[in-house]
Amino acid sequence: MQLERILQMHGFGTRKGCRAMIRAGRVAVAGAVVDDPFVDLATDGLIFAVDGVDWPFLEFATLVLHKPAGYECSRKPQHHPSVLELLPPALRERGVQPIGRLDEDTTGLLLITDDGQLNHQLSSGKRKVPKVYRATTKHAVDAAQIEQLLAGVLLHDEPEPIAAAAAEAIGERLLRLTVTEGKYHQVKRMVAAVGNRVEALHREMVGGLALPADLKIGDWRWLTAAERETLGVSR
Ligand code: URA
Repeated sequence: MQLERILQMHGFGTRKGCRAMIRAGRVAVAGAVVDDPFVDLATDGLIFAVDGVDWPFLEFATLVLHKPAGYECSRKPQHHPSVLELLPPALRERGVQPIGRLDEDTTGLLLITDDGQLNHQLSSGKRKVPKVYRATTKHAVDAAQIEQLLAGVLLHDEPEPIAAAAAEAIGERLLRLTVTEGKYHQVKRMVAAVGNRVEALHREMVGGLALPADLKIGDWRWLTAAERETLGVSR
């Protein structure tokens, strides 16, 4: 693929703009500046650098972000900055979107992609992809609450009760809850439905993928092929 097309595809601007960047000597491959925009490169395993920053060639950009509180999962946020502002501009230009939404005050594992099929597969309730949350609650978590969460609770505007796939008290006011749907404020509403209240919420896992322990709050990194496998959806 021509170098200027590669840059354009990775969000570095228009074809003309990418051509100018290349001609200005801002792009390197394997440590050497390449100033010919039309050079044809094999894309398999290709890593190119723009202004000294390495970019892997990726047909789809999928990444994992450790979401901080105070960010909205929307391209057009209303009251807080968008999580997309935590990413480099080129990635935003590619049109990446969060997979499902975490509330502004929820922290933890957020996947972001421009792979529409992956986004659909993981967000669709039909696939029943488990999402594991750790909730800090206002009141002590008791056995009756766990029982009700596992049996199913009726939420406003939902025709059927929704049951947690797993629920356990992991501290006096700490609850680990697994849900397979992605309803609006689902965890907060389920916990409220059993007479408690979520004071802080953190997503620990999606499918078989846990938030990487070394990923600092606010940081992101590419999802590896092995991690992609753990999501439990096919490509
Ligand atoms: N459930 C909620 O209530 N909030 C979230 O951010 C995610 C799940």
